[in-house]
Amino acid sequence: MTSLPLRIKDAMSQQHSAAPAPHTAVATVAPRGDWWRDAVIYQVYPRSFADSNGDGMGDLEGVRSRLPYLRDLGVDAVWLSPFYASPQADAGYDVADYRAVDPMFGSLLDADALIRDAHGLGLRIIVDLVPNHSSDQHEWFKRAVAEGPGSPLRERYHFRPGKGAHGELPPNDWESIFGGPAWTRVTEPDGTPGEWYLHLFAPEQPDFNWDHPAVGDEFRSILRFWLDMGVDGFRIDVAHGLVKAPGLPDLGAHDQLKLLGNDVMPFFDQEGVHEIYRQWRTVLDEYAAKEGPEGPSSEGRWWETGGRIFVAEAWTPTIERTAHYVRPDELHQAFNFQYLSTAWDAAELREVIDRTLEAMRPVGAPATWVLSNHDVTRHATRFANPPGLGTQIRLAGDRELGLRRARAASLLMLALPGSAYVYQGEELGLPDVVDLPDEVRQDPAYFRGAGQDGFRDGCRVPIPWTREGSSYGFGSGGSWLPQPAGWAELSVEAQTGRAGSTLELYRAALRVRREQPDLGAGDGVEWLTAPAGVLAFRRGEFVCVANTTGEAVTTPAYGRLLLASGEVAETGGEAKVPADTTVWWSTAR
Ligand code: NOJ
Repeated sequence: MTSLPLRIKDAMSQQHSAAPAPHTAVATVAPRGDWWRDAVIYQVYPRSFADSNGDGMGDLEGVRSRLPYLRDLGVDAVWLSPFYASPQADAGYDVADYRAVDPMFGSLLDADALIRDAHGLGLRIIVDLVPNHSSDQHEWFKRAVAEGPGSPLRERYHFRPGKGAHGELPPNDWESIFGGPAWTRVTEPDGTPGEWYLHLFAPEQPDFNWDHPAVGDEFRSILRFWLDMGVDGFRIDVAHGLVKAPGLPDLGAHDQLKLLGNDVMPFFDQEGVHEIYRQWRTVLDEYAAKEGPEGPSSEGRWWETGGRIFVAEAWTPTIERTAHYVRPDELHQAFNFQYLSTAWDAAELREVIDRTLEAMRPVGAPATWVLSNHDVTRHATRFANPPGLGTQIRLAGDRELGLRRARAASLLMLALPGSAYVYQGEELGLPDVVDLPDEVRQDPAYFRGAGQDGFRDGCRVPIPWTREGSSYGFGSGGSWLPQPAGWAELSVEAQTGRAGSTLELYRAALRVRREQPDLGAGDGVEWLTAPAGVLAFRRGEFVCVANTTGEAVTTPAYGRLLLASGEVAETGGEAKVPADTTVWWSTAR
């Protein structure tokens, strides 16, 4: 990206007077158009990664300053949660301007510098796209409300008159995912209570009406804006929610929460979403055609090789339905939430692994694997919870047990074929913060109460970089959510070079993954006979053994010990694998 398109320059000049930084760095990895098939993608939650200006809030410059850490960790790409202009009613998932960076995170120039530096270090950048809803401060929505009933802008959202004698009841019985009704009534310009609008999430997040052509046009233009900025892909927020069943029919069941994720709902996973993604795919394909075949371009701009991708956040009832999103003419990847929701149990894990691989094979998409993100309990805490509690409940639990299982689960995930997602801080073995005082919480789901416990703040606490300093090196000021005492020894500084630390385990795992051609590649595993509660599989010259039980087990020593999440003892061709431990073997001679 040596010269910026004019409209980006214009947008930048509105935010910053300085010129974009020169692109000096040199790529360190070989380009591959299909890099995403076995990529390890690291999720940065910009609020909580690194704070460059000491205001207690992470920012893009902070992320840029820590890119070498991510390069050294060994990931292939970075997915950034939203950093767009936003009133932050849902931590940035309420976007007021899709083409601007919120001043709390920096400017478009900072985004440009971040993308350039990442590419210089051989890292790809994936940005978050939020197409299901905007902020209620988005220009369209503000005008829709201000112009009153009949405004053409109301057609770009779901405005409806209410039910009841005076329109005092919501238009249907849908509930917000964050609790309470999915509808809010507006006050009309003449001061009277008026129409209602749909919001599947917070009232500050009105849902777009994707039947209106202007919405599709706008999002294809937003895609191009960020593609022209040089991003390598998009994570699509609520990818399953854009299209609603015609007529917005009542659900008729009052336990919507139990149905969520288990059933096709009139507002989720409707067939119509696929047409939108087919259209989006043509935009990416257009860029691919322009940018040429795999391999570095003549100017060495290796990232412009057509390897740009979409990844769907699609919560669907089954992995088979998730596979619909990654058909060859749609998206590239979809998060595997079935895997994320699976307990630390060999039989359940084997079933979800097999089912995932089987579901992805016919559509030719890589499987993906994920254990943590900014919406769920970190796996180092979750795996110490009693089984059956789900991904939202946070208990302090047995920290040691949780960490041991989390390390084993991470090694298992990184041994599977396909692409893996790592959430910032999991490489440090961070637990969820379960005791945040109510007055510091920011998650809207917490305040709206119902259903899910809304304690997502616990996995969003800024990460510790150093042993000392205010906010453990997160920034020179405080941190927007307080970090617990005792995080010094979990910091990057404390774990770097410490044998057996979780950080060094991740670094080693990602190094081995790069060196072992069988890891990440392919679409199948060969299961090996193993004791009850133990998973063992072969992938070419690589064997992975995961003991999910609370007891040590004896297994064959399959070859050369590559890596283990605990202390493995080898004697006479056998290996003693401790409780909750994963081992990687190489069978190469
Ligand atoms: C999914 C995002 O991951 C979550 O953080 C957000 O609250 C909802 N979508 C609504 O945008």
